[in-house]
Amino acid sequence: LFAGPVDFVKGVVAMSGLPPADRLEVCFAGRSNVGKSSLINALTGRKALARASNTPGRTQEINFFALGESHYLVDLPGYGYANAPLAVVQKWQALLKQYLSGRQTLRRAFVLVDARHGIKTVDEEIMSLLDASAVTFQCVLTKTDKINAADRDRVLDQVRAKLAPHPAAYPELILTSSEKSEGLATLRATIATLE
Ligand code: GTP
Ligand code: MG
Repeated sequence: LFAGPVDFVKGVVAMSGLPPADRLEVCFAGRSNVGKSSLINALTGRKALARASNTPGRTQEINFFALGESHYLVDLPGYGYANAPLAVVQKWQALLKQYLSGRQTLRRAFVLVDARHGIKTVDEEIMSLLDASAVTFQCVLTKTDKINAADRDRVLDQVRAKLAPHPAAYPELILTSSEKSEGLATLRATIATLE
């Protein structure tokens, strides 16, 4: 699946702009700056496919990438703090929620969580929305290259405890570093086995 072509399809600013729901879809959600766009680039081996930057609020549209003809990878705007005007942020947050709760072909939402910080209140709000919408979500820890083993284990415990009450949570965690290519094969295999 990941050996084939990957193409940018479109950036969407309203539900009416979504591409036809005619293939399997996975999305990457998470707080601003957690590493969503970087992970999509790392997964696809394309350095600048999705635009990443150190400025929180880099991704402001819902960006669709086609993986061959069978899958969409969807890069979402971040939630939480973003370095953009409030009215703009509110608009894309509303779209994000509509998308997460109303996309028929969305098979799994990967909720990215910084391996240094664990799950925050804003993450829990998104997880509750996914519960209510019956969208299975899976936590992906990011930036593991920035943490030592002891801190990582402490965060893993926190994440497991926070996930336990969420009915839509898929229990297996995936630890990743886009920088060091950790966990990419696991994530690719997870996406490839979804039906
Ligand atoms: P928004 O679009 O603003 O919501 O951000 P995002 O979640 O798409 O984050 P993005 O991929 O733009 O990355 C944010 C910053 O984190 C960039 O400076 C990246 O280089 C850095 N970053 C992302 N992944 C990793 C990683 O695995 N390790 C390290 N060390 N840095 C990373
Ligand atoms: Mg981004």
